[in-house]
Amino acid sequence: MPSPISEQPAGPGQNQGHPTESWSSSLGFVLAAAGSAVGLGNLWGFAYRASQGGGLAFVVLYVAIVLLVCLPVLIAEMVLGRSTGHAPLLAPITAGGRRWAPLGWLFMAAAVGILSYYAVLMGWTGRTLLHALLVGLPADMEASKAFFASISSGGSALLGHVLSMALTGIVVAAGVRAGIERLSRWGIPLLFVLLLVLLIWAAGLPGAMEGYHTFLLKWDASKLHDATTIRNAFTQAFFSIGAGIGAILAYAAYLDRRSAIPTEAAAVVTMDTAVGLMAGCVTFPLVASFALGDVVSSSTVGTLFIALPTGMASLGGAGRVVAVAFFGLAYIAAITSSVSLLEVPVASLIDRLGWRRPRAVWLGVAVITVLGLPAALDTGVLERMDAVFGGVLLIVGGLLLALLLGWGSPGRLRQDLQASGTPPALVGSLLWLLRWVSPCAISIGLVISLVDLARSWAGG
Ligand code: TRP
Repeated sequence: MPSPISEQPAGPGQNQGHPTESWSSSLGFVLAAAGSAVGLGNLWGFAYRASQGGGLAFVVLYVAIVLLVCLPVLIAEMVLGRSTGHAPLLAPITAGGRRWAPLGWLFMAAAVGILSYYAVLMGWTGRTLLHALLVGLPADMEASKAFFASISSGGSALLGHVLSMALTGIVVAAGVRAGIERLSRWGIPLLFVLLLVLLIWAAGLPGAMEGYHTFLLKWDASKLHDATTIRNAFTQAFFSIGAGIGAILAYAAYLDRRSAIPTEAAAVVTMDTAVGLMAGCVTFPLVASFALGDVVSSSTVGTLFIALPTGMASLGGAGRVVAVAFFGLAYIAAITSSVSLLEVPVASLIDRLGWRRPRAVWLGVAVITVLGLPAALDTGVLERMDAVFGGVLLIVGGLLLALLLGWGSPGRLRQDLQASGTPPALVGSLLWLLRWVSPCAISIGLVISLVDLARSWAGG
């Protein structure tokens, strides 16, 4: 082939199994993976789903699924990426043979589908940030609802979507180390600090206890087998960790052979869950303190964008500073996540076709921007895309990953983890979880979710 790809190994597949890029260190990988996990899912998704009822039962199910199901699947996904050295499209074939090829396509479809509406949410976030910074906060709840309606439709939503895709493209085009890793290295620590400050501030609000109680601590055992609560817990766990569609697989392909994957995965999961719970403990005291419960139940998608600015507005100038900090933090968290979603098709194009990174990035950005237009114009479409791509497909991906590494090629997991120093007993327990616990739990969760989703669509 002539010039455009001459700096890369020419033709499909010659660089297969040996990505040319890598993380600078194990810490760099952990921060990038934490950057992928921590995002709008923690800030917006957690508030959105927790506010649909469920209370403590939702939180308990969520944490149990994260530990028993998502953590093993995350480790499996990392092993699949590192041991094959391939991008998400080809890694399943290398590990399990041709009949696993559809899994690679499922990864691509889910990542592209999620990013196409995720960028719309990023647009809303950026828009709210700019408004708080330049104009101020909406004066009351009515103004806040009108503001949300204006940012979530028409030209404003389109512009936010396009700009967010462009920013994501710029970071991914800069490369694994210079783009993705560098952004996460300062973004993640900054986020923790800001969130901690907000957490302390929210704990002092008059309605703090009521907020924790209404949304997070209210115990109702019957919610443990409520279909919507179960679907919300599964979706939130997989979406928030970001396991199941190859994003972490793509990152792990750039990983050192010797690094301790189980420890790294545990660090990512711990940070992600901490941020989710912390964000809930910031959102709900505000909602309770400023009597915003109605807003939350009438527009759960808009929880973050209506309730928070309204609550913060009642604090005057200080509230505006808090709003800028919060939405600024949310935007940083969103970019470190969106880059991992874009990396799935980008790494696959580089791996499969031998393309250069910028070319793969801008093609991906163009396609995903177009696919996101319906969600940018209609929040109903966005909600449905979230349920299908960020819910069902993601959970199916997690199930197939558990089956591939647990049953399809179990020697791979054992060999990769033991070679990097994981104690055999730990490897054994992980395999046991992947073979028995994850597939059963995910299958049950999937069936319940599908039935619940069908019911909610038929009813709504
Ligand atoms: N986890 C991110 C969040 O909470 C979103 C995300 C990034 C994601 N990569 C993913 C979701 C892969 C599913 C799969 O916002």
